[in-house]
Amino acid sequence: MVPPPPPPSPLESDPDEMRRFGYAVIDALVERQRGLRDDVPWRGGSRRDLEPLLREPCPEEPGDPDAALRRALTEILPRAGRIDHPRFFAFVPSSPTWASVMGDLLATGFNVFQGTWLESAGPSQVELVVLEWFREWIGLPEGAGGLFTSGGSAANLGAVVAAREAAGHPERPSVYFSDQSHSSIERACRIAGFRDDALRRIPSDAAYRIDVAALSDAIARDVAQGRTPVLVSANGGATNTGVVDPLPELADVCEQAETWLHVDAAYGGFAALTPRGAATLSGLGRARSVTLDPHKWFFQPYETGCLLVRDPADLQRAFHVLPEYLQDVELGFEHVNFADRGLQLTRAFRALKVWMGLQVHGRRAHADAVDKGIELGDVAEAALRAAPEIEILSPSSLGIVCFRLRPEADGVPWPEERLEALNRGIQDTIVAEGTAMMSSTRLRGRYALRLCILNYRSTAADVRAVVERVVALGRERVGIVEG
Ligand SMILES: Cc1ncc(COP(=O)(O)O)c(C=O)c1O
Repeated sequence: MVPPPPPPSPLESDPDEMRRFGYAVIDALVERQRGLRDDVPWRGGSRRDLEPLLREPCPEEPGDPDAALRRALTEILPRAGRIDHPRFFAFVPSSPTWASVMGDLLATGFNVFQGTWLESAGPSQVELVVLEWFREWIGLPEGAGGLFTSGGSAANLGAVVAAREAAGHPERPSVYFSDQSHSSIERACRIAGFRDDALRRIPSDAAYRIDVAALSDAIARDVAQGRTPVLVSANGGATNTGVVDPLPELADVCEQAETWLHVDAAYGGFAALTPRGAATLSGLGRARSVTLDPHKWFFQPYETGCLLVRDPADLQRAFHVLPEYLQDVELGFEHVNFADRGLQLTRAFRALKVWMGLQVHGRRAHADAVDKGIELGDVAEAALRAAPEIEILSPSSLGIVCFRLRPEADGVPWPEERLEALNRGIQDTIVAEGTAMMSSTRLRGRYALRLCILNYRSTAADVRAVVERVVALGRERVGIVEG
């Protein structure tokens, strides 16, 4: 006699209810996308407002899924940046395609364990395939490989640890990066156990590119003092300015010093898909490791980072540990266990979203969208240059341009504090009124407004509208101040 089916777990969902709720979620996502352009690019909220709204005891008993979805859609999710809004030009934007979002959903729904080949043969093969596409695009030699990571920070950490091991984990290491490098490099060094006295922040030149002569001197000085250079981290698109370090020269220096050249191309690397981006990134393929962040300029949802190394054995050496309870997962070298290449044992199947985006839209559409970002950076610069009171602090490079209003009083520029107050005020207004999401930085100590234009939805009209508004606000304020 067949035993009666056990009562379903209270955590189980009925298939009809799964469909109904799933469609409701999809409908909400589609509506969000449809209304994105007419929405504001950013909305925040103070802790004082959010505490009473969301602070509550954890529900002990089941609740209504529709009510939970409604609350998520009205109380939680709207109070955030719309990072994929066509006028979100702050920090480093991200604009995933729907195909990639669906790929991510699929990977989550199938709950793939992408740590070992045994648990995820098909997914692991796809990760190898997508990494191979990336390898070709950025010009690393055959045999190079790596893994998908949570983001650029995790990829940079992987590179730093692999380089440290490749150098024999020396007693007195030194690591080199520019004063324009992303903070994740310094953080990675700290996590990897390098003390402050091992870090060499090399000055950048007038164009914000690392000073190669200063780097060579620093390496020579360290070697003379018995230190071991472990890694040089170059920028393949610096976060501040989009500027690319002189990669061929750096490759020469590293070759001579027998030092690991890492290129942090987290945001800029996919520019290699376009002829002008490839020219800017020339030399990238000579790196020993490269960080890429598909969730930045390759139209993927968070979290999608990537580390490629010339020789994946460098990652194995740094990360492979085989405990007895995983003895079943060693299937031979060609069956890659991605857990052996990085920090995570349990990993999501991140490659699927990238694969899905490329299956649906193809490589060319992705490349064209990257090229459009480069073009719109140039559009922004041209529009800014048309206003005489604008000072370009760093010209358009890989979709980023930095500038400020710099009015003069009787032919004399305003003092720095006054310029900062003026520009900060303009930025605050642009964000508060919902024209755009824009952020600032500091270049050589000067307060700089910064546009980072990477979204495939953004148009020249979006860019010009923001520049016009910045200039108009500036004129208004200068008029008021000069009164
Ligand atoms: C050049 C660069 N490297 C690394 C990172 C860190 O990447 P993630 O935020 O994905 O960890 C960023 C982020 O903006 C970046 O611009």
